[in-house]
This record gives sequence, structure tokens and C-alpha cells, in this order.
Amino acid sequence: MISKINKIKKQAWADIETAKNNSSLEVIWRKYLGRREGELIKILREIKNLPISQRPKIGVLANKLQREIDKKINEAKNGLFSLRKKESIAQEDITLPGEKIEIGHLHPLSQMRLKVAEIFASLGFKIIDGNELETEYYNFEALNIPASHPARDMWDTFFVDSPKSSLLKSKKSNYRLLLRTHTSSMQVRVMEKEKPPLRVCAIGRCFRNEATDASHEHTLYQIEGFCVDKEVSVANLIYTLRAFLSLLFEKEVKVRLRPSYFPFTEPSFEMDFSCLNCQGKGCSVCGQTGWIEILGCGMIHRKVYEAVGYRPGQYSGFAFGIGLDRLVMMKNQIDDIRWLHSGDLRFIKQF
Ligand code: FA5
Repeated sequence: MISKINKIKKQAWADIETAKNNSSLEVIWRKYLGRREGELIKILREIKNLPISQRPKIGVLANKLQREIDKKINEAKNGLFSLRKKESIAQEDITLPGEKIEIGHLHPLSQMRLKVAEIFASLGFKIIDGNELETEYYNFEALNIPASHPARDMWDTFFVDSPKSSLLKSKKSNYRLLLRTHTSSMQVRVMEKEKPPLRVCAIGRCFRNEATDASHEHTLYQIEGFCVDKEVSVANLIYTLRAFLSLLFEKEVKVRLRPSYFPFTEPSFEMDFSCLNCQGKGCSVCGQTGWIEILGCGMIHRKVYEAVGYRPGQYSGFAFGIGLDRLVMMKNQIDDIRWLHSGDLRFIKQF
């Protein structure tokens, strides 16, 4: 039996040394170490027929050879790998320039978010993060939009099933959770915690259950700003927005203010922008009107102050909500908002 084991070893070594590739090494592995028909398993099966005194010695020898063959095959595989590597390096032209590593950059929405934050900070606004996951109370109720109010249709949203959220562990625990439809939901949260004078700005994602088109997305970014102090007027609001737009576009931009309606501001306005995509002539971005609606604004409604607990007439203030995506579109003359979330690198690489 011992000479049989030695013969197997000699043959295995010869086979491994002449193997030319990995697949022939796999065949050799199966020939000697295969669980069913391998040469060594055959030896182990025969042990039971040997005299008891010889069994341990033969068992030890067979197991040792098993380990040796396995190791030798692995070494041969590694040897073949480094040989192939050396060969391929030898064939390469090392004088060719190396491959350029591509460096990415911020998405145009992120670039705009940072720029806007910088401008509002320079105008004296504190920049905060608002909650994307909000309660019905802060998104609607505290902003004078009770459950039955038709204005809720304008901000149809996605409700979230999560009764355990820490957001609900407050006195407003009977309200549902939702994805905020506008950044205005941060107003009452901030006013509950801090006292005027306040100048606060939040920039972030909002969600609406709406049909998409060239200027509407279901996931959009808004810039919310509000100022509460004594004797704040519409003139302060208009001045702030004009200052912001001319700092952003680095030139005077043509805007118009239209009377509008928001339950949480009185009076309310909408500000439009002369469409930079078509220079006001009319295109698919502006719905052929030459104007793009860019923001809603107004003087904060007394019902909002009531929700926070301020005395009537104690303070006055303005608020505005600007579409960040639309600013990006105007600044870069993008003709369809859906490009922004398309994930198409051919688009992203242009900025
Ligand atoms: C609001 O969301 C109010 N919260 C704005 C506001 C804040 C008014 C503070 C008064 C005081 P509105 O639904 O109009 O309003 O949206 C504001 C801006 O967000 C729009 O002018 C537009 O620029 C942008 N916007 C709205 N819906 C979409 C959408 N689906 N896709 C892209 N941008 C949108």
C-alpha cells in the first residue's frame, strides 16, 4: 500500500508540472482528490481491508498526500496567473499615456442649493434643514389648511404608514405622517422654538402626487424663507426677492408680481420670471406664455401666528417658497425639468 501511495505521488507531481492552464489543473484535482473516484479516496476506502496494525500509518500517509497535492495545485495556479500577468505586461506599450481617472462634480441641483444658501446667508437668513417626513399638522393644519379645505387639492401628497415615528410623539399625535408637499411646513416648527426677530431659510425636497410635464415633477426642491419682526412690510418682501434674484443671475431680471391665494399668507402673490429659455417669446417650458411661475409669497397670515401662540398684531412678517428646479432650468436654459432626475450622465456632464 505504501508503494502505491508513493506511485500516486510521483504521477501527481508529473501531471501538475506539465499542466498548461487552470482547467487542466482542475481535472488533475478531480483525478487525485475527487470525492467519488479520486485516487486517494480509493486508498482510504481500502484501509478497512488492511490488518488493524497498518491502518493508522496508511491513513496518515494518505491524508498527508491529499494535503500536499491540494497545496501543489494551488501553487501551480498562482504560478500560471503571475506568468500570464508578466506576459501581458511584456506585450503592453508602457510609453502610452495612462488612462485618465474621471472626476465627478456636484449635480446642478446641488450647485444651485449651495449658491442659494450662500446668497440668503449673506442677506442675514439663518439656513436650516427642514423635515422631509412631516405631520399633517405642520404641513397643512398649522398653516390654516384644515382637513376639509379645498386648498389641500393643490398639494395632493403621499401619506406614510408609520405609527411609531418619533415625529408623532407630541401633543399633535392624532395627525398622520406624510411626505411634505412644500417647505412651508418648517415655518411653525421654527416659530414654536424661537422668538422673533427671525429670518430663516430652508432648502429641500418636497413631494407631490401630480402628473409630470416639462415644468412639473412629483419630486421637487423648494427654497422657503420667512422673516418675522415688528413692522415688516410687502416692500421688504419685494426688496428681498429682487435682491436675491439679481445676486443669483448677476443681472437685473424681469419679474412680475400677481395677486394670488395661499391660506397661510394674506395678501398673497405669485412671482413670475420672464422665460430665459425663449427670452419671453413663448415655448414649451413656459407653456407659450413667455412667463415662468417661480415662487409663491405673501405676508404671514394671523392664523399662523395663532398656531404658534403669538398675540394678534404683536408681529408681522413675510414668507416665500421658490422652486429650486425652475431656477436651475432658467439659469442653464434646460427645456424639461425631468432631465434633472433622469440620472442620464450625458446630461449631468454638461454642468
Ligand atoms: C407653495 O408651495 C407655497 N408653499 C409657497 C409659499 C410659501 C407661498 C410661503 C406663500 C408663502 P406653490 O405650490 O405655488 O406654492 O409652489 C411654489 C413654487 O414651487 C412654484 O412657484 C414652482 O416654482 C415650484 N413648484 C411647484 N410645483 C412644482 C412641481 N410639481 N415641479 C416643480 N416645481 C414646482
